[in-house]
Amino acid sequence: MAKHAQATWGGRFSQKPADLMLKFSESVSFDRRLARCDIAGSKAHAAMLAHVGLITASERDSIQAGLDAIGSEIAAGRFPWSAQLEDVHMNIEQALTKRVPAAAKLHTARSRNDQVATDMRLYFKAACGEVIQRIDGAQRAILAVASAHAAVLIPGYTHLQRAQPVFLAHHLLAYLEMLQRDAERFDAVADHANWCPLGSGALAGTTLPIDREFTAKALGFVDARGRPRVTQNSMDTVADRDVFVEFATACALVGVHLSRIAEDLILWASQEFRFISLPDAFCTGSSLMPQKKNPDSLELLRGKSARLQGNLQTLLTLTKGLPLTYNRDLQEDKPPVFDSHDQTVLCLEVLAGTFTGLQILEARCAEAVSDPALLATDLADYLVRAGVPFREAHHVVGAVVKLAEGRGRPLNQLSHAEVQPLHPKLGPDWVSAFDLQQAMARRRGTGMPGPVQLRRQFARWKKLLG
Ligand code: ARG
Repeated sequence: MAKHAQATWGGRFSQKPADLMLKFSESVSFDRRLARCDIAGSKAHAAMLAHVGLITASERDSIQAGLDAIGSEIAAGRFPWSAQLEDVHMNIEQALTKRVPAAAKLHTARSRNDQVATDMRLYFKAACGEVIQRIDGAQRAILAVASAHAAVLIPGYTHLQRAQPVFLAHHLLAYLEMLQRDAERFDAVADHANWCPLGSGALAGTTLPIDREFTAKALGFVDARGRPRVTQNSMDTVADRDVFVEFATACALVGVHLSRIAEDLILWASQEFRFISLPDAFCTGSSLMPQKKNPDSLELLRGKSARLQGNLQTLLTLTKGLPLTYNRDLQEDKPPVFDSHDQTVLCLEVLAGTFTGLQILEARCAEAVSDPALLATDLADYLVRAGVPFREAHHVVGAVVKLAEGRGRPLNQLSHAEVQPLHPKLGPDWVSAFDLQQAMARRRGTGMPGPVQLRRQFARWKKLLG
């Protein structure tokens, strides 16, 4: 029988796969990205096989040297990837077999099922680290804008209606909180990835006397005290894709956060708000309207978040209803993960770049925040301090607002004589409630937008971000 390229599993077949089938089933076009993880996994596996005596030390050495040589070729872009060999695992194994006779022993006590699970767990640990680094970069860029404009006040909004004044920095530090939770989420995903699948075999382990803990240690699948972490059920191990879903979830949530941040900035950059001006470098013009400067980077951030959610949905749908254990459907788990990874990194870089070039139009912010209606609640608090129950105070201030509207004047332009009839506790100093700096200074509690808290938060973030 003619031996065709598919030497890894071709033994029981008398016909080659159809070209169409090869095209349909190959994954090397995307999973070659796992080459480094795959080589690391194979080197550790070979070390373990030698450790338990299933191969000799010199076989191990020649396998490892061969893998290193292949690794260098791949890194240099000189490796001849072949779709005929389906995936990254068989491409590397076949190339190794051609150079090193002992390579025929490498797949002892291993299946591509525990192999790909291992590759992906190694990949996730690195990917989480990379995303966390980019989150940190975006946080620094935001913090720089907040610190450079620490005294700027703007209206805070609920229902997109002016609500109460806040420091712009307080608003921006809210973004740091959102992103910090994201970073912690990726930390948790990396921890969940930190269990070694090797030794689970195709689904039922192996009859050979392997040492799973040895392999786990060699690959860095260890706890904080350096003890090996190996998965505890071979069937679950090759069927489980939870970490994929968790990673995509963390990416989708970053996307949601970036999308909300983007939406704020888009509004603020509009002529209607004009709180900020966006950097030219992250905007584009219109092919028709010469005056336009469009916030494309931010709109794309909003758009990419849809894509990140789609990737998560793909993974959830892919895995639901699959019988245990491995099914080839699972090969489709990688493109959405890789895409989420790449797009999340890119989005975070673009957010950082956009913030770095951001201009704050301070005069416009001051104008917007000078609206005394923003301090209507402070007037109610003034009455509360004079002993008026809050519900009553709220009602009285409502009447003051109505009066001001009726007379076509801002709240703080009413005279004491005009408001006094509305409540006896509205004293001659009633208008002091509209002193913006005093109003901010009163917001002293943890998490509030007062200047003392703001200073504390700046100190906290400077420490956190190093
Ligand atoms: N390329 C495959 C994947 O990504 C590797 C595992 C193949 N296993 C198998 N039993 N055919 O899922």
